Amino acid sequence: MSEVKPYFETQLGKLYCGDALEVLKKLPSESVDVVITSPPYWSKRDYGEETMKIWGGDPNCEHEWEFNTRLNSQGGTNTEKAQVGKDKLCLGRFEVREAFCKKCGAWYGQLGLEPTPQMFVEHLVEIFREVKRVLKPTGSLFVNIDDTWAGSGGWNGGGGRKNKSSWERKAAIMAKVPSPAMYYHGAKKKSLALVPELFAVKMVYDEGWILREKILWAKKVHFYKDKTTRGNAMPESVKDRFAHTWEYIFHFTKKPKYYFDLEQVKVPLKVESLKRANRDVQSWKLDGTTKGMTVDSKKRWHEKVLNGAHRGANPGDVVQINVRPFKDAHFAVFPPDIPELLIKAACPEDGTVLDPFAGAGTALVVAEELGRRWVGIEINQDYCEIIKRRFEKEVGDLVKNRRLEYFCVKG
Ligand SMILES: C[S@@+](CC[C@H](N)C(=O)[O-])C[C@H]1O[C@@H](n2cnc3c(N)ncnc32)[C@H](O)[C@@H]1O
Ligand SMILES: [Zn+2]
Repeated sequence: MSEVKPYFETQLGKLYCGDALEVLKKLPSESVDVVITSPPYWSKRDYGEETMKIWGGDPNCEHEWEFNTRLNSQGGTNTEKAQVGKDKLCLGRFEVREAFCKKCGAWYGQLGLEPTPQMFVEHLVEIFREVKRVLKPTGSLFVNIDDTWAGSGGWNGGGGRKNKSSWERKAAIMAKVPSPAMYYHGAKKKSLALVPELFAVKMVYDEGWILREKILWAKKVHFYKDKTTRGNAMPESVKDRFAHTWEYIFHFTKKPKYYFDLEQVKVPLKVESLKRANRDVQSWKLDGTTKGMTVDSKKRWHEKVLNGAHRGANPGDVVQINVRPFKDAHFAVFPPDIPELLIKAACPEDGTVLDPFAGAGTALVVAEELGRRWVGIEINQDYCEIIKRRFEKEVGDLVKNRRLEYFCVKG
């Protein structure tokens, strides 16, 4: 296994600037404890030319590309036919958005901008297959993912492709889908594309992951009886449905038994509940649970009740956390509370956190702050630079205080 050189490293972690799948292939098996990540969502954002790569097909094929192009910043008309050399995929006044090889069916493009959600999911699970190898048997994988409304003006809805159905047909053939007819039309306009669900079903039924929980990250919650809301989701002008204010965080594991320390994230019980537990014990209240117990075992049971009450309660699988804009990045970043909650619960103190789609590096910064080791992968070099600056600014002092050698390697 050849070595990959990090873009930078601290004593606790390393950031690799490269494609998630390629870098993951070079990481040792069973070396990380928890993966916290948010891949590009389907049909939402253009993450730049740097993130484009060839997916599938025959690696030995002399590809013959059919392109979907758009004019680049130099302007011009869109009537010229794209001409291309073997490796050159950006042509004069045209920018290549994606391409299919006419011979082997390989697709060239960005993860997240595939013609169909099914093809996107194929690519995602390919990456998570490698994540599975890298994850320890006791580990957890948390994937934050959200949906898209068909025809909602994103890459696919906004007329990005001139001949949409022919691209979808190619995608269906390439994804080796037995009944490609459904992909010719896709989801009806205004329907959710059900991308998270397609992904989860594939991960569980084809890839053998255990989907332990679907955590709902609520950015804003509606308290109907109080006629109030709490939180700060992105405002929407939509009038024929409720504004979308939450996202999935899927919790996958490799094995039924895995590391999870609920104690670290329990919420303190309300004063009233604590008082009630105290009253019960004081009055030696006997109920069905203590019936038939000896005096000693009743005492022990009451102590357990009291201790349990003081330790707090399971917070549940809906977590309200406000979004926090990050000025350097043009994409959605995690609010630090998300990785903080997940690391506290699912990463041992001497464990390692991995984010293969690091973005602005929020999970990595939080891992460093919590004293966990970390590994980050990000394909876009501009974002790698953002992460580096963020480490210098946000955790520089902390690192100095710990007398760690800092940023010793530059790729
Ligand atoms: C939604 S953002 C992640 C945001 C991150 N959770 C944060 O808090 O900043 C997804 C990131 O995946 C990166 N990306 C896209 N394709 C990739 C690939 N093939 N390999 C690695 N990173 C990729 C994008 O450049 C983008 O920065
Ligand atoms: Zn080919």
